Amino acid sequence: MCGIVGYVGKQKAAPLIIEGLKRLEYRGYDSAGVAVFQGGKFEVAKKIGRVANLEIEASHHRLTGTFGIGHTRWATHGGVTDANAHPHVSSDGTIALIHNGVIENYGKIKNFLLPKGYTFKSETDTEVLCNLIAYHYAKEAVAREGESRFVESVRKTLHHVEGTYGIVVMALDAPGELVTARKGSPLILGLGDGESLVASDVSAIVSRTQSVVYLKDGEIAHLTASNFAITTLGSDSVEPVVDKVTWSITDAEMGDHSHFMEKEIFEQPTALENAMRGRFSADGSTAQFGGLNISAGEFRGIERFMFCACGTALHACMVTEHLIEEFARIPVECDYASEFRYRNSPLFRNTLFFVMSQSGETIDTLAAMREAKRKGYKVLAVNNVVGSTIAREADGGIYQHVGPEVGVASTKAFTSQLLIGAMLALYIGRMRDLSFGAGVRYVEALKGAPDLVRKALLQADHIKAIAKRYAHYTDMLFLGRLSLFPIALEGALKLKEISYIHAEGYPAAEMKHGPIALVSEKCPSVFFAPSGEIVNKIISSMQEIKARKGPIIAIITERVELPAGLADETIVIPECHEAVLPIVASIPVQLLSYYIAVERGCDVDKPRNLAKSVTVE
Ligand code: M6R
Repeated sequence: MCGIVGYVGKQKAAPLIIEGLKRLEYRGYDSAGVAVFQGGKFEVAKKIGRVANLEIEASHHRLTGTFGIGHTRWATHGGVTDANAHPHVSSDGTIALIHNGVIENYGKIKNFLLPKGYTFKSETDTEVLCNLIAYHYAKEAVAREGESRFVESVRKTLHHVEGTYGIVVMALDAPGELVTARKGSPLILGLGDGESLVASDVSAIVSRTQSVVYLKDGEIAHLTASNFAITTLGSDSVEPVVDKVTWSITDAEMGDHSHFMEKEIFEQPTALENAMRGRFSADGSTAQFGGLNISAGEFRGIERFMFCACGTALHACMVTEHLIEEFARIPVECDYASEFRYRNSPLFRNTLFFVMSQSGETIDTLAAMREAKRKGYKVLAVNNVVGSTIAREADGGIYQHVGPEVGVASTKAFTSQLLIGAMLALYIGRMRDLSFGAGVRYVEALKGAPDLVRKALLQADHIKAIAKRYAHYTDMLFLGRLSLFPIALEGALKLKEISYIHAEGYPAAEMKHGPIALVSEKCPSVFFAPSGEIVNKIISSMQEIKARKGPIIAIITERVELPAGLADETIVIPECHEAVLPIVASIPVQLLSYYIAVERGCDVDKPRNLAKSVTVE
């Protein structure tokens, strides 16, 4: 949450920073601000609302400086006001700061600073941090050999801070220098041609450079236009690893689509192809992964799997649970990462721990992973963003390889997690009792998934028409069974997060144990009814809804025949292998939520109160 950009070079900093902030807006959009150094002082422009508001505000400030910092905010401490927007400048005017994270002991620090004459204009923890740096800069920090007083004052300050931070700092008497540090919030350094950048996400800097350094927790970087140095909080110097970003700025652009979410929904066939590329064995009977860092022998010794994640990623874990239990016959447990981290759950020996996270920065998932590691378990990560904290701290893992996902509502990242979950089930199954023939059929089915998704996407216009008829409802139920129960949860989550319609996901048969009380002509139900052993049971549940006048949108596979008049709307998806069904069945609910949100005039890519990666508790 919160997006950070810093620039030092020869160009005017403000337009470049604002351009970067636009690409980070998915991280928070309560307010935005920019500060540049010019005329011997910090010139600051900040405004509540979107970066577009900041752009207008900044045009009144004639920002010409060539180094500066900018921020887009997801409010934690203090309401959404101009005063609480970042950057913050210390009351003595010497330090300017942007911050992503939460300073937990800010009250204590403020009480320390107040008697010393420091004053505060905002309610934020960030302004307190900014003034503490100013205090150390003015009073205590002494330059060590080869290092500036500026860096030392930031280091000293951070020793007194409890909480999480990704910060970029400017000092009035250190023009052309940025100091940046992280603990719990991502930061990436961009090494350009005669310019240096820092940002919370590669997308903000990839138009300037593809050479990046992923800063680690506990590291401080000192940047100038032509140089950079990294040290630890404990003052040890760090040998930087320079990585090359493998995607370009066009991958993070909307192209001809109206929203990133629409673009990402329609990108899914290609995304799935990318996620499976090179990951099947030569004999075509199993999956193979390069970065698991765990031997086949070790894998065979695993007696239980534990999966932790949040939101949509947890739904992908729940489908994976179903498939591993079905095809590999090993017990799997799934938990909300936010609950696991505090639950002190007893874990079995020979358990392999997995986390799933698109961003790789979700704080609850990261904390669950650290807790499992602390208890001595190996943790593998399924993750999309290369170089993320979770990817770096995991013992091994599987990258999703679907490129940047910008829409706050996860779509292509979700279906690629489903695919990787299905591949894991195959991989583990083939080490146990899944036969060669069954493995080959499974692999063929997975290879066919992109085309089946293409076919499901052909329903877009039909679903759009349905969405127009259902956009006025205020409540909706999503009902599915077995591997489609998590897809029902996902459908409900998608609808509520982008259209603000109250929606609940349930196992279809569980509906009669309470939620049926909600059913009336005012509460439609979306049913998944694929062909299979229990389709008649699902049809019975539909009859129970119909008997209570509940409108029904039925998502069925090609072979299913519903009794005449039972469904008010029918969406037909292709028949598919059990491992592929959850992927294909996700398409209609993504499209339905998307078109309903558009019909209701909602800001699809930036739904209220949300942010793409949740880096605070
Ligand atoms: O980056 P992560 O996969 O860890 O994010 C987890 C959730 O915050 C995320 O899936 C959230 O539920 C999305 N907004 C869903 O569309």
